[in-house]
Amino acid sequence: MPHPLEQLRDDALREIESAGDEQALEAARVKYLGRSGSVSAWGEQMKTLAKEEKPIVGKLLNEVRSAVTAAIDICVQQFRSQKESGALAKIDISLPGATGPTGYSGYSGHSPPLTGYSGYLPLERGSLHPLTQMLERSIEIFRRMGFALADGPDVEDEWHCFDALNTPPEHPARNEQDTFYLPDGRLLRTHTSTVQIRAMQAAQPPLRVIAPGAAYRRDEVDATHSAQFHQIEGLYVDENVSVADLKGALEFFMRELFGANTKVQFRPHYFPFTEPSLEIYVKSKALKRGEQWVEVCGCGMVHPAVFESVNKARGDKAYDPEKWTGYAFGLGMDRLAMILFDIPDIRLFAQDDLRFLRQFA
Ligand code: PHE
Repeated sequence: MPHPLEQLRDDALREIESAGDEQALEAARVKYLGRSGSVSAWGEQMKTLAKEEKPIVGKLLNEVRSAVTAAIDICVQQFRSQKESGALAKIDISLPGATGPTGYSGYSGHSPPLTGYSGYLPLERGSLHPLTQMLERSIEIFRRMGFALADGPDVEDEWHCFDALNTPPEHPARNEQDTFYLPDGRLLRTHTSTVQIRAMQAAQPPLRVIAPGAAYRRDEVDATHSAQFHQIEGLYVDENVSVADLKGALEFFMRELFGANTKVQFRPHYFPFTEPSLEIYVKSKALKRGEQWVEVCGCGMVHPAVFESVNKARGDKAYDPEKWTGYAFGLGMDRLAMILFDIPDIRLFAQDDLRFLRQFA
């Protein structure tokens, strides 16, 4: 026969477990643990017990009290977390923030007006800068063609920016009028072609990389020139790479970006680090400037002298120009974004004007 206290414990646990809400649970707590509850009543009864019975019943009573208390605590926790997750589920996190009473509806890093502003700050969803969008689209296309990502520093040495790229000391790009030099002789890279050299120093051929990033020139700033602009450099080195591969890859890229009817033209040009060198012009009816050829990319076959300077720096013959050939290109990202989104002035990219940026949200 179980002791009546054990019976009491089992009844209590069953009742607690089946309590459907907080009220039922509280009722069970009062019934068993309350001042005049049944567990407490047993405490009173202890006084009337025989001396030898007291320690046994006392121990049992303690066990029963803590079992019941623990069961109630667990149930309270369960009800609480149910309530919390229910409350969270009701919050619509996609709901736009409310506009403050002043009608001010833009908080995207700019300070709200200091005077006359009494509303709470509306939460606005951010969006990607048009140049970032352009970059992401382009990278995605090149990744499908098997290009891996590479990068290098914006602050460079003359060797990576010029010497290794077969650009002689008397070349105008090395002039202080065209390039930002630091007092210690380093410079802000004038193109992302520096990463061609860094990628070849770091890895054996075959190699197929793109390097998106910023470049800097001391240009007079106007609607089409900015002291900082963005490029995607590309480099593909393998056996038997030809101009046909270069044309195929870049034509494919332009049509993916601007549409299947895009016309792509390759015109002869000169760069010290490629031979032959070409410039790419595009024209597409789908674009606002449809009827105009626009220059978007410099490219060509990697000059053997570039392979030789890489070999010298590496201290091996990994890029033997007798064995390897390659093409390289530098795409102007700002230019591409201006064509694709019909943006008339390159300075808009850096002016942080929300009226401009919101059009690309
Ligand atoms: N670096 C050249 C520029 O900025 C572009 C280019 C890259 C040309 C790679 C040829 C090969 O104008």
